[in-house]
Amino acid sequence: MSAESTQSAEAEELQVSEAQIAVHWKEESHYYPPPQFIGQANASDPSIRDRFSEDKFPECFKEYADLLTWDQYWHTTLDTSNPPFWRWFVGGKLNASFNCVDRHVRTRPNQAALIFVPEPEDEETQAITYRELYRRVNETAAMLRDYAGLKAGDRVTLHMPMVPELPVVMLACARLGVIHSQVFAGFSGAACGGRISDSQSSVLITMDGYYRSGTLLDHKVKADEAVARAKEEGHEVDKVLVYRRHPGQYASQTPMVEGRDVFVDEIMPQFRDKLVDPVSLPAEAPLFIMYSSGTTGRPKGCQHSIGGYLAYVTGTSKYYQDIHPEDTYWCAADIGWITGHSYIVYGPLSLGTTSVVYEGVPTYPDPGRPWRIAERLGVNIFHTAPTTIRMLRKVGPTEPKKYDYHFKHMTTVGEPIEPDVWRWYYEVVGKGEAVIVDTWWQTENGGFLCSTLPGLEPMKPGSAGPGVLGIYPVIYDENGEEVPKGSGRAGNICIRNPWPGIFQTIWGDPDRFVQTYYEKYNKDPKSTDWHDWPYFANDGATQAPDGYYRILGRVDDVINVAGHRLGTKELESAAILVDEVAEAAAVPVVDELRGRAVEMYISLKPGVAATPEVEEKVAKIIETEIGKVARPKNVWIVPDMPKTRSGKIMRRVIAGISNFTDVGDITTLANPEVVEEIRVHVHEVKQAKGEVAKLSEKEAEEIKAFGQAE
Ligand code: WT7
Repeated sequence: MSAESTQSAEAEELQVSEAQIAVHWKEESHYYPPPQFIGQANASDPSIRDRFSEDKFPECFKEYADLLTWDQYWHTTLDTSNPPFWRWFVGGKLNASFNCVDRHVRTRPNQAALIFVPEPEDEETQAITYRELYRRVNETAAMLRDYAGLKAGDRVTLHMPMVPELPVVMLACARLGVIHSQVFAGFSGAACGGRISDSQSSVLITMDGYYRSGTLLDHKVKADEAVARAKEEGHEVDKVLVYRRHPGQYASQTPMVEGRDVFVDEIMPQFRDKLVDPVSLPAEAPLFIMYSSGTTGRPKGCQHSIGGYLAYVTGTSKYYQDIHPEDTYWCAADIGWITGHSYIVYGPLSLGTTSVVYEGVPTYPDPGRPWRIAERLGVNIFHTAPTTIRMLRKVGPTEPKKYDYHFKHMTTVGEPIEPDVWRWYYEVVGKGEAVIVDTWWQTENGGFLCSTLPGLEPMKPGSAGPGVLGIYPVIYDENGEEVPKGSGRAGNICIRNPWPGIFQTIWGDPDRFVQTYYEKYNKDPKSTDWHDWPYFANDGATQAPDGYYRILGRVDDVINVAGHRLGTKELESAAILVDEVAEAAAVPVVDELRGRAVEMYISLKPGVAATPEVEEKVAKIIETEIGKVARPKNVWIVPDMPKTRSGKIMRRVIAGISNFTDVGDITTLANPEVVEEIRVHVHEVKQAKGEVAKLSEKEAEEIKAFGQAE
């Protein structure tokens, strides 16, 4: 028996996961927040931890709810009568648009709410004051109501780029109680169409084009594809509202469809100066849907509430982002992701601060761009993802020094950050003056789950930190036994308690909601005690002796490309749409810039010749079905997929080949001989292309664990 198989046999006996035996992270030391930060921090009194201690749950969240303006105050903090469908702040009524706009018009009408920075540097930056935002949101709400016929409870799909019209439309929807579902603009028309039909939206709001790396892209063409795809799925779209990037000038080649499509700039004059009363809605009414990719089946429409969600993002923006109204805050994420919803739009605007919206690529036209924006606008809080930090370090390692900006606070989110990259962020981008928060959470969660209180708790490179205020995490093994606290052993991280920001359900699929997130660790499905319903995050994690959690990544098969989570199933379903393809398997390959990239393995139908054209067809269809970000780094045509005797494709084996790591035990395969054949071919080509990456121990472990979930 090889050492490898002895080890897995032992692991099986001990019933520990593969991840558990092999996490050897070096412990990093703590960094303390600079004194000038502590002096001004929103959370500076250590007693805040006591206010949110477990014995104060759930009443502790009154502190977050009280940051909002309620039309009618709530009577019950948390209703657990129908678990795990928790209801927060029951009896309360409010409006999210009122909270993000109207209430600030009274106190700071002339302060900028949004600053829009177009990608072309010769185009003017636009500052939109709270008064101006109020006007635009009202007029847009009037248009949505009176032209598009939308009312509270209707769904509308947005496929908008990073332009100020996007937050304006979101807030206009919120004003009416219309449930918005924004789809990341980089996603294809087909991906958008699937989400339109899933949410049953009768209206699509889009833009003709937007700038990306200096090119004005045709975006309207995707609207036609989206409507066609929704129709194939049996769903009709009645209206497509098309904003124009340059009003009066059409950036797309596709014709407008008579009776369906309309240019928003042509109808808006009818709604000039119209005011729309914010609709007072129950705290538990849905605010929006945000789709998240999973391993199996369709993307999940995560439904978020008005009261719980808004309270949670407002509270965490205040204490963890340390937002004060007078700050200039720039989160460089896309509003098409949950990060943008929570921490560009709803959290920051609810607190009445100035939030920057940047249209384009951070390195356009050169790697100094983000630091010029920061210098020019006086940005003092900066928020981005490790993939962007790695890219900026690679293309402009000393650029930040050339610019006179000063951050007090920086965030990292979306994937684990390598301690080395963290240190560059801290020393070079932050100039040693800024505190960093590493924030772990998910689309499903509404807001942060683990991080450090920036003025009170030290940072540790590569670790998210303890559970945030009112969040009590736990690590369980596969059998539901708690992994000893602070032991550094890996397991599945769960949250023991409900919190206001947690999503309410998967749109249209409550069974899948229960199954995916609660079934695994619930021991008594009849219990109405929240203690019996830990939330299973589907992430692996370890906890160090200092109580800090380090997130190891998904336990299911999602490939995280530059912060975009792509489901293997979705990628594979797209590939087999190509006529010649019989079977497809998607695996992650470690990529210096994007974190992970996708590689596709395909086998062809009998009698079909392996040609570069077929490879290109596969790459292309993944682009159109899912998006350019998903384009595979390589498509490998193989004689046969390595399979188990029961016919399951062994993704871990091909993932090992793609990454030059151990393929593990293959003796139990139905066709072990094919592995060597594939390996020789793939390695030859990769060596010739210079694609031989040296993986860290942790990366190698992740690749090894990939595909184990089956
Ligand atoms: C998954 C959620 C949270 C908004 C952006 C992504 C991974 C997220 C971290 C972090 C390590 C992280 C997890 C999580 N993740 N933040 N700070 N450290 N891993 O939202 O697309 O729903 O992805 O991203 O694996 O489950 P999402």
